[in-house]
Amino acid sequence: MLARVWSASIVGIDAVKVGVEVDISGGLPGIVILGLPDAAIQEARERVKATLKNAGFAFPMRKIVINLTPADLRKEGPCFDLPISVGILAASEQVSAYLLGDYLFLGEVSLDGSLRPVAGVLPIAATAQKMGITGLVVPADNAQEAAVVEGLAVYGFKNLSDVTDFLNNPGRYKPVQLDDTPQKLHPTSMQIADLKDVKGQAHARRALEIAAAGGHNLIFVGPPGSGKTMLARRLPSILPALSFSEALEVTRIHSVAGLLKNRGSLVRDRPFRSPHHSASGPSLVGGGSFPRPGEISLSNKGILFLDELTEFKRDVLEFLRQPLEDGYVTISRTKQSVIFPAQFTLVASTNPCPCGYYGDTIQQCTCSPRQREQYWAKLSGPLMDRIDLQVAVNRLKPEEITQQPTGESSATVRERVQQARDYASGRFKNDQNLSCNAQMQSRHLQQWCKLDDSSRNLLEGAIRKLGLSARASDRILKVARTIADLAGDDALKAQHVAEAIQYRTIDRMQ
Ligand SMILES: Nc1ncnc2c1ncn2[C@@H]1O[C@H](COP(=O)(O)OP(=O)(O)O)[C@@H](O)[C@H]1O
Ligand SMILES: [Mg+2]
Repeated sequence: MLARVWSASIVGIDAVKVGVEVDISGGLPGIVILGLPDAAIQEARERVKATLKNAGFAFPMRKIVINLTPADLRKEGPCFDLPISVGILAASEQVSAYLLGDYLFLGEVSLDGSLRPVAGVLPIAATAQKMGITGLVVPADNAQEAAVVEGLAVYGFKNLSDVTDFLNNPGRYKPVQLDDTPQKLHPTSMQIADLKDVKGQAHARRALEIAAAGGHNLIFVGPPGSGKTMLARRLPSILPALSFSEALEVTRIHSVAGLLKNRGSLVRDRPFRSPHHSASGPSLVGGGSFPRPGEISLSNKGILFLDELTEFKRDVLEFLRQPLEDGYVTISRTKQSVIFPAQFTLVASTNPCPCGYYGDTIQQCTCSPRQREQYWAKLSGPLMDRIDLQVAVNRLKPEEITQQPTGESSATVRERVQQARDYASGRFKNDQNLSCNAQMQSRHLQQWCKLDDSSRNLLEGAIRKLGLSARASDRILKVARTIADLAGDDALKAQHVAEAIQYRTIDRMQ
């Protein structure tokens, strides 16, 4: 007997439909799997044999050939356990094959027959829906994730015998419902760090607000203990909420990486990723023989925080340049090349010099001018060129430390950020590729950042005095545009440009 069960495999953050053909014929008992399976799928042979026996089914003592189509696609992962088990049961007529053409099956099966969740269910569900598949049969723990996709019947089961019962008596079962509607995309985590805990630091708080409003990359420069890490961790709390399509994209990436918490439905919070400085290139940008998203893609639509930037290996940081420019990363392998989205805001922190106290009001810097020069030269690399806001953070004064924090809460700041973004999006409506000021190109600057005489004089003066490059001057214009948006001003004014010039701390140090 021949049976065919549909399943799917992940390529990048997309899914490809995979056919699992099972043929049982006379011959020496044995089981082979064809069609470029990886080691985990090969292991399914032994797993499935034990599982079927333990779940009370007969394992056919005949020759079993399992063929995975399309033959030229490498397939991976334990998600084929369930379709293989169902295929063997159907081919040996232990379960009805009636529904097999309409459904897609995914899931790892334990030896006792229980179904374990697998990664990548959301992109698979989205692909299945596009292909006109009726429904999806998945482990119960993946059901909510799959149910996010509308127009697809999702059935979640705890063990193999429930799946066979469903195939024999489909009328008894109802598809799962989404626990909550995807339209309600309020960020979930009330435990997210709030700006109201921060004492003083008006300048740095303002910089965070501008970064959030314009999507600008930012670096905090200041002595140890000045609150750089504390401030950076509060940026997510003032970012605008994810739109539904953004949330879907973020969830797809996290699904493929197997990082969905509780396998609940959509990711609602903008990602905040903070890789350790020992991170390798592939863990940052993605890689592996079956390419997996790296930190830059996991922080898509959110924040990539590189704390203590100078501790990161320079060649690893080099990898970030191209994705910072393009908003995506391409990972090429001999068999396939995949593209992962990587549209993130980079936030970094660093000490101002090797000892950490240059410019500090309390402690003397012990570095020689030469040491400082070398340090800054290392900082002002190609990455620094892509950072719009360079923000000096000073340590709190004793009287500030002993005070209660009096600053605004994140919710209040987030409202202004949202208003500024709404204001900017009026300009972007004819340009699909733009979603925030940081993404503006020269032609946009010419159109939307026209300078009057006094602001031109100011900018010229700064270029001369700080020896700024044309690129740095473009960055000032972008930041000034965001400052004007926050003020609800259509025209760039001298005060906006003046404030933007302040955020060139590192240029000023050199
Ligand atoms: N502005 C501030 N308001 C409240 N607490 C602060 C502030 N700055 C620093 N702190 C306290 O000092 C600690 C160290 O700050 P941290 O962000 O780690 O400094 P850095 O990263 O600059 O070395 C914080 O965890 C916090 O408890
Ligand atoms: Mg720190």
